[in-house]
Amino acid sequence: MRACACVTEHRQTDRQTASWEKVSTSVKGAGAVATIIALSVVYSQEKAKNNPTSPTDAPATDAPATDAPTTDTPTVTTPAPSNEPWDKYRLPKSLVPEHYNVTLWPRLTPDETGLYVFTGDSSVQFNCTEDTDLILIHSNKLNYFKHAGHLAVLTSVSPGVEAPAIRSSWLQPETQYLVLQLHSKLLKNHRYQLWTNFTGELADDLGGFYRSEYMEDGQKKVVATTQMQPTDARKAFPCFDEPAMKAFFDITLIHDRGTVALSNGREKESTNVTRDGWEVQQTVFETTEKMSTYLLAFIVSEFGYIGNMTDNVLIRIFARKPAIDAGQGDYALNKTGTILKFFEQYYSSEYPLPKSDQIALPDFNAGAMENWGLITYRETALLYDEKFSSNGNKERIATIIAHELAHMWFGNLVTLRWWNDLWLNEGFASYVEYLGAHEAEPDWNVKDLIVLNDVHRVFAVDALASSHPLSSREVDIQKPAQISELFDAISYSKGASVLRMLSDFLTEDVFKEGLKTYLKEFAFGNAVYTDLWKHLQTAVDANASAVGLKDSVEDIMNTWVLQMGFPVVTINTTTGALSQKHFLLDPDSIVTALSPYNYEWIVPIRWMMNGAKPQEPYWLRKKSATHDAMKTSQWLLANLDVVGYYRVNYDDENWNRLVDALNTDHKVIPVINRAQLVDDTFNLARAKIIPTVLALRTTEYLNKERDYMPWSSAIGNLDFFYLMFDRSEVYGPMQKYLQRKVTDLFYHYGNLTDTWKTVPDKHMDQYNQVNAISLACRTGLDECQTLVKNWFKQWMTSKKNTIHANLRSTVYCNAIAAGGAEEWQFAWEQFENATIASEAEKLRSALACTKQPWLLNRYLEYTLDPDRIRKQDATSTIVYIANNVVGQPLAWDFVRDRWSYIFSEYGGGSFSFSNLINGVTKRFSTEFELKQLKQFKEENSDVGFGSGTLAVDQSIERTIANMKWIADNKQSVLEWFHSAVNR
Ligand SMILES: *[C@@H]1O[C@H](CO)[C@@H](O)[C@H](O)[C@H]1NC(C)=O
Ligand SMILES: *[C@@H]1O[C@H](CO)[C@@H](O)[C@H](O)[C@H]1NC(C)=O
Ligand SMILES: [Zn+2]
Repeated sequence: MRACACVTEHRQTDRQTASWEKVSTSVKGAGAVATIIALSVVYSQEKAKNNPTSPTDAPATDAPATDAPTTDTPTVTTPAPSNEPWDKYRLPKSLVPEHYNVTLWPRLTPDETGLYVFTGDSSVQFNCTEDTDLILIHSNKLNYFKHAGHLAVLTSVSPGVEAPAIRSSWLQPETQYLVLQLHSKLLKNHRYQLWTNFTGELADDLGGFYRSEYMEDGQKKVVATTQMQPTDARKAFPCFDEPAMKAFFDITLIHDRGTVALSNGREKESTNVTRDGWEVQQTVFETTEKMSTYLLAFIVSEFGYIGNMTDNVLIRIFARKPAIDAGQGDYALNKTGTILKFFEQYYSSEYPLPKSDQIALPDFNAGAMENWGLITYRETALLYDEKFSSNGNKERIATIIAHELAHMWFGNLVTLRWWNDLWLNEGFASYVEYLGAHEAEPDWNVKDLIVLNDVHRVFAVDALASSHPLSSREVDIQKPAQISELFDAISYSKGASVLRMLSDFLTEDVFKEGLKTYLKEFAFGNAVYTDLWKHLQTAVDANASAVGLKDSVEDIMNTWVLQMGFPVVTINTTTGALSQKHFLLDPDSIVTALSPYNYEWIVPIRWMMNGAKPQEPYWLRKKSATHDAMKTSQWLLANLDVVGYYRVNYDDENWNRLVDALNTDHKVIPVINRAQLVDDTFNLARAKIIPTVLALRTTEYLNKERDYMPWSSAIGNLDFFYLMFDRSEVYGPMQKYLQRKVTDLFYHYGNLTDTWKTVPDKHMDQYNQVNAISLACRTGLDECQTLVKNWFKQWMTSKKNTIHANLRSTVYCNAIAAGGAEEWQFAWEQFENATIASEAEKLRSALACTKQPWLLNRYLEYTLDPDRIRKQDATSTIVYIANNVVGQPLAWDFVRDRWSYIFSEYGGGSFSFSNLINGVTKRFSTEFELKQLKQFKEENSDVGFGSGTLAVDQSIERTIANMKWIADNKQSVLEWFHSAVNR
C-alpha cells in the first residue's frame, strides 16, 4: 500500500503537511468502524422486518443480542476476558485453507431501506493439520443466513470421512470470528469444506467491500470496490484472514448487465443470467495463484479502459470513461510496461501473472494498493493530464506505479509471514520505487529525491524519544488497530532508507543476487525478514572478495532494525577520532526504551576529503574509534550522498572549512551533500550540539545555488524560523536576508524560461522554479508579486487559465494573499466548479492564504459545512488556515470555541484530531499561549480529545520547547540576520 499523497504540490516545501497525510490514513479506518456497527444493526433489524418468516432464511447478525444460536448452546453473551480460542486475535494453526469459491453480488442501487448492500456465498476447502472440534474463521460485519439453525454448512471432502455435526455457531465481533463448535472432531490430514451465504453493507467507508460515488453527465454513478489490507477481506466474505494463510481463489461476480467486473484473475467468461428474478450478468474469473487474502480485489463499475499486450502480459488502465477518453490513462499505460520489464530484470524473475490491471477510484483512502493483478489507486495517483497535472503529480504517478509493481513480487509472490514485518515489505517497495521510476524517467534524477522525501523526512520523527524500532515482535502485533498503526513513516521511510544503505554497502549486484534466491525459495509462500538476511549473506559469501564485509549482514542490520533512532557521528579532523551517539532532537528528552545494542550502530561511512574519495567505506563499529586517514587540515565530508542513515558532526575547524567550500566553490561538494549540510546543521543546532549561527552560515552561499535539493532543504528548515519569528522583530531582517538570497534564483528562472513563457527542461529545475517563486513572493520581492498578481488577474478577466500546472499552487496562494474579497471569491467559485481533484486541491489550500481576517473567519465556518468542504478535508483546511500567520489565532479561537461541536460531529469519522491540534498550535511559543493551551485542556477535559489526546500533551511540551529555543536563540539569530544584511 502507498500512503495518501493528497497534497503533492506542497510535498517539496511543506513536510509538515506531507507527514500529516501519512498519519491520517490509519485514523480514518479506525473512526469509520463505529458508525458501521450501528448501521449493520439497523440493517439486520430492517432486514428481519421484511423477512419475518422462514427461520432458516433469516440472517443472523453480529449484534450481541441476537447472536446466540437457537439450540444446544453455552450461553455466550458478552465474553468475559476469558482465554477461549475465540477471544484470541490469532487463528489457531489446526486448519489450513487451500481453495475458496466466492460469489459476490454488490447492488449499485440502494434497497428499499435506502442501504447499499451486497450478497454472497462462499465455500472454503481446508486441510486439518491437528484434530479439533472448533472452527474459527474471520468474519466482520457480515450477516449470515441460517441453515439447519446454524450459520454455516460443513461437509467432508475426504472420501469415506463424515463431517462432524455443528453443535453451535455464533459471531464473535470483538475478535471478528465466525465460530463453529462441533459435536466431534475434525480429523488430522482430512479435508473439509465450509459453506456460507451472507449479506453485508456496501458502505462508503473505504474498507473491505465498499462503494465509491461520482457524478458523470449530471448523474450519480456508483462503483463497488475493495480495500482489504490489512484486515478487511473478512468484511467481504468469511476467510482465514492472515497473510500466511495462502490459498487459491475462484471468484465470481454478479453485476448489472453492461457494467464491468474485475478481480485478480483474468475474466474467464461473462454471461447473461437471471438471479432471484433479476436479469444480471455473471463474470467468472480464472483461478488465482496461491495468495494471501489481503491482496484480493473485486470491482464493479461503469469504467472504461485502455490496454495493450507487453510480452504476453495484458496491461490495462481503468478509470471513469471521460478520464479515459481525455487520455488521462495514457501516461500510466506507457510507463507500466517499462517498469514491469525493469523489475523482471531486477528480480531475475518473470512477472508472475498473465495480466496487470490498474484502476483509478474516485474515493480511495490510501494512495494505492497492490492487489495482485488488480492494483487500485486514488485518481491523482494514476491519472495524468498535461493541462492540470504538475510535474510533481507526474512524478508521484511514476513512483507510485513503481511501488505497487514492485510489490507484485516482493510482498505478493513472497509474503511476510505476519504484519510485524510490515516494515520490510513497505520499506523495500518505498526504496525500489525510485529505481523503477528512474527507469521510466531516466532524465529526472529521481533517485536522489529519496534523501529529501524519505531520509530527511523520517529523521524528524525518528529523532524523538517517542520513536520505535523498525521491527516489532509478533506477539505485540495482534489487534487490527495494532496492525494499522504499523503503516507509519518509520515502516515506509526508515525502512526504505536502511535498505538503500544495505544495497549500497553490499553493492547492487550482490543485493540483487540475494533477492533473486530469496524470491525463488519462498515463491507463493511466506518468509520472515531474517530469511532475506540469510539469502543476502549467501550472496555476500559468494562474492567475498568484492564486498569485503567484516560483520555479517544480520549483525549490521540488527543495529538498525532492532533499536529505534539513529546516530550522530562526530568526526574530529584534528585527531582523526570518530564517535557516535543516539541523536535526539530535544536533548532534554528522556529515552525510556531500552535497546539491545545500547544505542550503538554499525555505521558504514563513505567519505570524501578535498574532493578525493576512498573506494571502501570506513566502518564505525563501536562508540568511538580513530581513523588516521581522517586527520586532516583539508575539508572532510562524511556520509556521501546521504546513503547512510545518520547525521554527521565535525570539529569547528572542519565546519569552517566546509562553510568556506560552500562559499567559494559550492560545486566541489556533491549536490545531495549540500542539502545534507543544511539539514544536518539545522538539526544539530536544534539539538544544541552546534550553535544556531553555524546552521545559518550554511545558507550564506545560497544566492549562488541553482539546484533544487539544497534549496528545498533550506526552505524546509527555515520554515521553523518563520513559525517562531514571523510575529517578532526578527521577521524584518530575516525577510530581507532571504530575499537577497533568492533574488538571483528568481531572475535565473526568469531568464531560463524566456521571461516566464516556457517551462525549464529539467525536472529538478521545474521544482526549483516553484521554490524560487514561492520564496521570492513570500519575502516580498515586488517583481514576483506583480508577476503572480497579473497572471491571476488575467485568469479572472479572460476566464481562461493560462497558469502552468507546475506553478498553480504557489501562484494561487500568493495572488490570493495579495488580493482581497474579489480574488478570494473567484478562487472559491473555481474550487466549487473544479472537475479535477488535483485542481480542487490546489485551490482549497490557496484559499487559506488570504490576509483578510474576515475571509479567513468565513472560510473557517465553511470547514464545518459538509456541503462546502467535504468532511475528509475539514482538518487539513483548518490547518492550512493556521499555517497562515494571520489565520493562526483565528483558527485557534475557532477550534477552542467549537471544540465540543467538532468533537461530537466529527469524532466518529475521518477527522484526525491530533493533526488538528498539532496544526493550530505548532506556532505557539509564548507564556500566554501556553496558558491558553493548558486552560483549553482543563476546560474540555469532560468532552475529551479523542485521537488528539496525546497531541494536547505534545503541544504543551512543544510550546515549552519552543519558548526555550526562542529564549536561547532569538538574540543571536537577530544579530546574525542584522549583520548578514548589512554585509
Ligand atoms: C446481455 O444482455 C445485454 C442487455 O440486455 C445485451 O445488450 C447483451 O447483448 C446480452 N449479451 C449476450 C451475450 O446475450
Ligand atoms: C577535537 O579534538 C581536539 C583535540 O583533542 C579537541 O580540542 C576538540 O574539542 C575536539 N572537537 C570535537 C568536536 O570533538
Ligand atoms: Zn506498499
